[in-house]
Order: sequence, then structure tokens, then C-alpha cells
Amino acid sequence: MKCRICQHEIRPFMSFGRMPIANGFLTPEEFDSEYFFELKPAFCDQCYAFQIEEQPDPEMMFHDHYAFFSRTSKFMQRHFKAYADWVYSNHLKGDDLFVVEIGSNDGIMLENFANRGVRHLGVEPSANVAEEARKHGVETIVCFFGSDTAKGIVEEYGQSDALLAANVMCHIPDLNGIAEGADILLKDDGVLIFEDPYLGAMIKKTSYDQIYDEHVFIFSALSVASIFGRHGFELIDLLPQETHGGSMRYVLARKGVRGASSIVCEIVDAEKAQGLHLPETYEQFRKDCEASKARLIRLLEEEKAAGRRVVGYGATSKSTTILNYCGIGANLIEFISDTTPIKQNKCTPGMHVPVKPYEAFTEDYPDTALLLAWNHQKEIMAKEEAFSSQGGKWISPIPEI
Ligand code: SAH
Ligand code: TYD
Repeated sequence: MKCRICQHEIRPFMSFGRMPIANGFLTPEEFDSEYFFELKPAFCDQCYAFQIEEQPDPEMMFHDHYAFFSRTSKFMQRHFKAYADWVYSNHLKGDDLFVVEIGSNDGIMLENFANRGVRHLGVEPSANVAEEARKHGVETIVCFFGSDTAKGIVEEYGQSDALLAANVMCHIPDLNGIAEGADILLKDDGVLIFEDPYLGAMIKKTSYDQIYDEHVFIFSALSVASIFGRHGFELIDLLPQETHGGSMRYVLARKGVRGASSIVCEIVDAEKAQGLHLPETYEQFRKDCEASKARLIRLLEEEKAAGRRVVGYGATSKSTTILNYCGIGANLIEFISDTTPIKQNKCTPGMHVPVKPYEAFTEDYPDTALLLAWNHQKEIMAKEEAFSSQGGKWISPIPEI
């Protein structure tokens, strides 16, 4: 295969096997027509882009019944208010401001700009979540972002002061097209700011569940600098984040227009010390994934043999990789509880574990809960005090089982 960024020849270093669409929750009538592909990660040692070999078409993942609504987590609502406030205070100056967000989902970030009266526009291809954003006063157009969209926005609204994104840049296979779009859309001194799950954290925690259809890339500072550097942008700041199990916020501007913080060199040096630029790091990661899988299966089998009821907590997209890679189905977990209405009373992609409303968990506590939404551990542990204190046991598949 060829690297999506620099066309260098690369080869996958492992396979997670046959995978369905990670957010493709379905009913039994749909089992026969379920789509599968092989999930194989690869690393490019020329431009440092960590990517998956095959990604299903975007329209198969993002559409008018997309299952992920950003607002389900109170913690994320606070996070996006803080993100928006930080952008506003640190990167926006002047009066007639205009901010664009790629992948604005249900408006969780842009509503904070709307509340300040800042001119804004969300670009969001999944019509159902875009509709929710409009209910929160967020102006949204339903389409995929790219250079054509950028041209259309400039014609209708003018150039923007900031182009923002969260947990979407890593979804987009044609990143060169995104960088071109950013170049068209942004004013000369405009900023491109996005955050995504961080490769350094994924390697450290063996959080292989970050790898699924939507995440075509997992970024590092090294790869972001290299990818956007090809299009005249430079990294000027980096802010590590706790969200999604370890993320990074990247701030980019046109080369030479704004000064770069010293943290950029510090983090790039730390990434080299961690070996994120070396193929052998990914060989070790493969071994760590295999060990993690063996341990999780053993633990769940022990629970079963001891006659203990195990229920999954949080039908995350990430868990699609864990369940399918480890072969965990209704044989090992009874059901998964989740607060998202669109996922409830459906089955999980691939392994077809029933998804039940949250109350199914609280009304009849299991012996053990498998914490699939491990990235929300703090929020969930606080919420589930009652379960834990009456002897409920938790298994967290990541970072350490
Ligand atoms: N920013 C939100 C949502 C992340 S989920 C958050 O962090 O919680 C990713 C979102 O990006 C989905 O709503 C999806 O429909 C959208 N998306 C996917 N590809 C896109 C593209 N090329 N342009 C704009 N949005 C896209
Ligand atoms: P999340 O970890 O944000 O993401 P991803 O799908 O990107 O892997 O998904 C959280 C899921 O967990 C979502 O379906 C809602 C569910 N959830 C609960 O059921 N209860 C909770 O208390 C929280 C925080 C999340």
C-alpha cells in the first residue's frame, strides 16, 4: 500500500482481523447485510503517519442516522466550553470574528461561540447530529469538509479567523485536501486548531481500541508537523489533553506568521525518545496488543467459570475493536448498557451483543462490569458509587486490565 500522505510504500505491521463499522449498531434483520473489512494498521517511516490500510467509504460511516452524539458526556460538555473559551481568549482578536468547525456534531463546541454572539459555521455531514446542533443555535451545513467546501464558505461568508476541529481530523483520509481547504479558508494570520487521540498515549497504554474504521490516522506532533508542513503550515503550540484516554491539541499557523512555543520542540524530542518515529516501536505494540487480548479473554472466562454475571458498560465505538479482536460476544457478556437512545435495543457491530438502556444495569446489578467507556472512568466511578460499594467489581480493559 502507499502512504496516504507522502505516497511512500508501506506495509501493515499487524491485523486486528475482520471488523464491522464501529458505530454500526444494528437489528437482527440487518445481520445478513452487515459490512466487514480487515483492520490493519501501518506506519510510514518517511512522514510518520500512523494509518490503517483500508477504510470503508465515508458515506458508510457518516450519514443521517449516525450513532455518536457528543453531548452524552457531561465531562465533554465542560471540556468543549473550556476549549472554546481558550480559543477565544488566546487566538481571536478583533470585532467581526468568524469561526468554522469541521465535524461539529451536535454543536457541543460551537454553541459556546454562538452564546458569545461570534459568527460561526459548523461543517457536519451527519444530518441527524447537525439537526441537534441547530436546536442549540449552531449554524450548520451538512457536508464533508474539503477544498471545495472551503471555497463555497469563503464565497458566502468570507475567510475565517480560526478553523477548529476535535476528534475528526483523524477520520479524514484525504488530509492533503483538508490542508488545502484550510489554506483557502483561513485569513493570512488565521489559526488551525484541532485535537485528536494521541499516538504517544496509545502506545504507552496499549489502547489499541483507538484503532477502528473512523480513525484512519492516529497522530503525533511529528506526523502533524510533517503532514501540514507540506502545505505551508507550522506547528506553533501543543497542549496535551486527558480526553479520550489521552489526546493532543495541535495549533498551526502559516509558516513564519506567528511565533512557535518552545513546547513544540520539547514534545517532538519526547516523541523521539519514546521511539514514535521507529518501526520497532510498532512491532512491540503488536506484541502488547496480543498480550492484552489474551489476558482479557482469560479474565472473562474465569468470571464465567465462577458463575458471575458480566455486563459491559458503554457501547463505545472503541469497544467494537476490543470485542471483535478478542472475540467477546454474548457468550462472555450478557449485554452492554448505554445512555444513547439510538444505540439502545440494537446489537453491537460484528459480535451482536445486545445494547440495553442504562436502567438495565442499575435495576439488576451484575457481579462484574466491563468498563468499555474506560476513557470516562472518573465520571463513571463517581456516578456508580452504589454499584461499587455493594461489592460490584470492575474490569477495565485499558490501560491495564
Ligand atoms: N467534534 C465532535 C464529534 C466527533 S465525531 C467531538 O469531538 O465530540 C466526528 C464527527 O465528524 C462526526 O459527527 C462526523 O459526521 C464528522 N465528520 C466525518 N468526516 C468529516 C468531514 N470530512 N468533514 C466534516 N465532518 C466530518
Ligand atoms: P466515547 O467514549 O465518547 O466514545 P467513542 O464512541 O468515541 O469510543 O463514548 C461514550 C459512550 O459511552 C457513549 O455511547 C455513551 C456511553 N456512556 C454511558 O453509557 N454512560 C456514561 O456515563 C458515559 C460517560 C458514557
